[in-house]
Amino acid sequence: MKISIIGAGNVGSLAAMRIAQEGLGDVFLIDIAKGLAHGKALDLEDARPLLKSNYSICGGEDIGLLKDSDIVVVTAGLARKPGMTREELLVKNSQILKEVSLKIKELARSAIVLIVTNPLDIMTFYALKITGFKPGKIFGMGISLDAARFVNLISQELQVPATDVEALVIGAHGEGMLPLPRFAKIKGVTLDEFIGEEKIKDLIGRTVNRGAQIVANLGSGSAFFAPSSAIAAIVKTIAKDEKRTIGLCSYLDGQYGIKNSCIGVPCRLGRNGIEQVIELDLSKEESAQLAKSAAAVAQATAQLSA
Ligand code: NAI
Ligand code: 2OP
Repeated sequence: MKISIIGAGNVGSLAAMRIAQEGLGDVFLIDIAKGLAHGKALDLEDARPLLKSNYSICGGEDIGLLKDSDIVVVTAGLARKPGMTREELLVKNSQILKEVSLKIKELARSAIVLIVTNPLDIMTFYALKITGFKPGKIFGMGISLDAARFVNLISQELQVPATDVEALVIGAHGEGMLPLPRFAKIKGVTLDEFIGEEKIKDLIGRTVNRGAQIVANLGSGSAFFAPSSAIAAIVKTIAKDEKRTIGLCSYLDGQYGIKNSCIGVPCRLGRNGIEQVIELDLSKEESAQLAKSAAAVAQATAQLSA
């Protein structure tokens, strides 16, 4: 299986390593910056004997390397700087996404495409429009990372293992995300059995703010360890046709009462992409918040030139 990663920065190169190490396919790392992807691929190659894994990886500047890929992961673009919202990245990253999406359309028509570049939901919708691919074949990674952050913060608060906690986040990967405490469980017991409303509110706020907190601490660039783990988990589900349910930024065509927008919702994922959008039984208030989140994405995308 050929897996191409466009953008060999922090997120792309670490995702390449995780995907290669898991033996999910032949990895091609591509970056516009001279020598960057090639140099990182050489370094990753050298790690093979140490990691005791004969994975295949190569890298270069030529976008033509993505030809006939089965899976393409797009991490090309600028990352957030301290105090910057994901939405502020819109103008610059939409130019990059347009260029990259046209190449994917030309060279890898059968690929399943995972968008990572921020602002995630807008970039996913934009890439979908530019490629004209079927909606189930092009989607974004964002809320699975947010859910992992929510789980981590719950586990710290309750002092239980993170692996005992499950939680859901839906909506935009940004200020409009919706961590859903009603669906958060610790070994089957709902979160509100452990802590009160105020503590839950605080956990939600910290989840929404987690990316910005990391950006503020790093001083330059944004998170990459957890994002690259989230990418590798999605690529694994596709490559191995696992049919797991994962939160993805997906095109909605009437599900949740939302039409013609891309937003984060749980999806069943397999070798051919999204097989089903899972419709949660949301409260009126949750539905309204999701609709608001989706409307903001659709409005922002409408402003971008096709
Ligand atoms: P980075 O700055 O380390 O790497 C970005 C790379 O993209 C650079 O090496 C740059 O040369 C390359 N690039 C720019 N234009 C390109 C083009 N036309 N073709 C090929 N490569 C190109 O940034 P990082 O930290 O890797 O983040 C990448 C993107 O992912 C950012 O937009 C960031 O906001 C986003 N992100 C999204 C997450 C999510 O959950 N959806 C999580 C973390 C980051
Ligand atoms: C994050 O949530 C910047 O989207 C990236 O860390």
